[in-house]
Amino acid sequence: MKYLIAFAFFATIATGCRHEPEVPLPPDTPSFSGVCDPDTVYFQHDILPLITSRCASPDCHDADNPEEGVRLTDYANIMNHGEIVPGQPWEGELIEQILTSDPDDVMPPPPLSPLTAAEIDLIQTWISQGARNNSCADCDTVNVTFSGSVSGLIANYCEGCHSGANPEGSRALVTYEDIRNSALDGSLLSSLLGTDGFTLMPYQSSPLLECQIDMIETWINDGAPNN
Ligand code: HEC
Repeated sequence: MKYLIAFAFFATIATGCRHEPEVPLPPDTPSFSGVCDPDTVYFQHDILPLITSRCASPDCHDADNPEEGVRLTDYANIMNHGEIVPGQPWEGELIEQILTSDPDDVMPPPPLSPLTAAEIDLIQTWISQGARNNSCADCDTVNVTFSGSVSGLIANYCEGCHSGANPEGSRALVTYEDIRNSALDGSLLSSLLGTDGFTLMPYQSSPLLECQIDMIETWINDGAPNN
C-alpha cells in the first residue's frame, strides 16, 4: 500500500510536469535596474549593441532591407527570429547559426569574422539568465574622463560598425584621435541626438540613455581631453 501511494504521488508529479505551460516569453518592455551588476548580462547594455554591430549593419539584418526578412534590430525581433528559448542557451536558430562550423550556414557569413568565444559566451549567459529585456547604466556624470567614461561606451555601442577597412559612414571610431575628431566637429553629439541632419546613432537601435549622452557631452565641453 505504501508503495502504491508513493507510486501515485510520483505519477502525479510526473504528469503534472508534462502538462505545465511553456515558459512565457519575458515582456518586451525593458526593465531598468540602475547600477550594473557585474554578474548579470543586460540586453540593452551588452546584447543589443553586440547583435546590431555584428548582425544589423546595412545590407545585413537591418530594418530597411533585411536579409531574408530577418531584422535583428530590437528585442522582439531578436527573440522571435532567433527562436530564443529563455533559460536554454543551446536552443534556437540564432545560437545554432553562430555555433555551426558549416561555412554555408554560419552567421555572420564569411568574409565577416565569426563571433568570438567571449561574445558567444555573453549571449548564452544572457539566455540562461532568462533572456530578459533588461538594462542598467553605470553613469557618473561628475567625474568624467575619456578612459573611464567615454571610450568604453564608444567601444560597446559604436565600434562594431565604425571600424575595419570600410567603417559605416566612412567614419572610424576606434582610437582616441578618431573619437576626438568626431567630438570636435560636432558629429559625435549630433549623431547621438539625431540632430543637425545626422542619422540617430546607434544606427536603427535604441538611443543611448540620457545619462550616458550627458557623460559624453560633458567630456566634449571639457575640450575632449585624452585623460
Ligand atoms: C549597426 C551599425 C552602426 C552602429 C552600431 C553605429 N553606427 Fe554610426 N553609422 C552607421 C551607418 C550605416 C551610418 C551612415 C548613416 C547615414 O548616412 O544615414 C553611420 C553614420 C554615422 C555618423 C555620421 C558620419 C558622417 O560623416 O555622415 C556618425 C558621426 C556616427 N555614425 C556615429 C556613431 C556613434 C557615435 C555610434 C555609437 C553610439 C554609432 N555611430 C553606432 C552604422 C552604425
